[in-house]
Amino acid sequence: MAAAAASLKLNLPSTPGGTNSRPIFRSKFRVVRCSTSTDRQELFNRIAPVYDNLNDLFSLGRHREWKNTAVSWSRAKVGDNVLDICCGSGDLAFLLSEKVGPNGKVVGLDFSKEQLSIAAARQQSNSKKCHKIIKWVEGDALDLPFPESYFDAITIGYGLRNVVDRQKSLKEAYRVLKPGSRISVLDFNKSDNPLMTSFQEWTLDNVVVPIASSQGVAEEYRYLKESIRGYLTGKELEYLALEAGFSTAKHFVLDLGLMGHLVATK
Ligand SMILES: C[S@@+](CC[C@H](N)C(=O)[O-])C[C@H]1O[C@@H](n2cnc3c(N)ncnc32)[C@H](O)[C@@H]1O
Repeated sequence: MAAAAASLKLNLPSTPGGTNSRPIFRSKFRVVRCSTSTDRQELFNRIAPVYDNLNDLFSLGRHREWKNTAVSWSRAKVGDNVLDICCGSGDLAFLLSEKVGPNGKVVGLDFSKEQLSIAAARQQSNSKKCHKIIKWVEGDALDLPFPESYFDAITIGYGLRNVVDRQKSLKEAYRVLKPGSRISVLDFNKSDNPLMTSFQEWTLDNVVVPIASSQGVAEEYRYLKESIRGYLTGKELEYLALEAGFSTAKHFVLDLGLMGHLVATK
C-alpha cells in the first residue's frame, strides 16, 4: 500500500473556471479536490478519525510542545475569554482552557463537523474541570459569528494555511479581538532556505504520505506539501497581519525552521 501511494501522481489542471478545472490530487484510486472551502471541509471531515494519531506519529509528539508555545504566546490568562480558530479535534482549545481556568471562557471554532465531534468526545472523556468550559462552534473562520472586540486572545493552529482567504481570516480575527490583545498563529514554516524546503518536502513525500496511505488517506496528506508551497513566508505573514490591521506582527521559527509562529497584536 505504501509503495503504491508513493507511486501516485499529482495532477494540477490549469484551466480556470468549471468544476473539472479546480486543482485536484488525482490517483488511480481516488480524486481529492482541495481548492474550495467545501473541498477542504470534506477533506478534514474524512481525515478526522486518524488525524490525532497521525499528528503524534509525524511529529514524534513534538506538536504538543509547539501547541503549548502557541498558547503561551497568545498571553491568555486566568479568567480570559479566548478563541481557538480552526480548532480541529481541540488540542489548542484544551490547552487554552488550562490557562484561563474554570472561570474563563474558551470557544473552539471549526467548519468540520467530524473534527468537532471528536473534540466533543475528547472533552467528555477528559477529567480536567477546566476542559468542561469549552464551547464548540461549527462556523467559518472567514465569517466569525462573534461581536467586535470580544476575545482577550486568539490562537490558530495549522489553520491559516488551510483557509481559502487568509487576509479575510486575519481581518475577522482582528475584528473580534480586543484592542491590545494578541493572536498566536502556529503552522508549518514556509522556509526561504532551499535546503530546509527540500528536507521538508522529502519528508512529506517519503514518510508522511506513505504512512498516511496505510490509513487510507494518502491523497489527503499529499495536499500538505502543496498547501505549504502555497503558504506564506514569515515576512509575508508579518506583512499580511499588518495589512489586516494589527499594530505589530512578528514571525518566529521553531525546530530549526520546520515550524513557524506568527504573533500579532491588535
Ligand atoms: C490541520 S487542521 C488543525 C486542527 C487543530 N487546530 C490542530 O492544531 O490540530 C485545520 C483545521 O482547519 C479547519 N478549517 C479550514 N478552513 C476553515 C474555515 N474556513 N473555517 C473553519 N475551519 C476551517 C479544518 O476543518 C481543520 O479542522
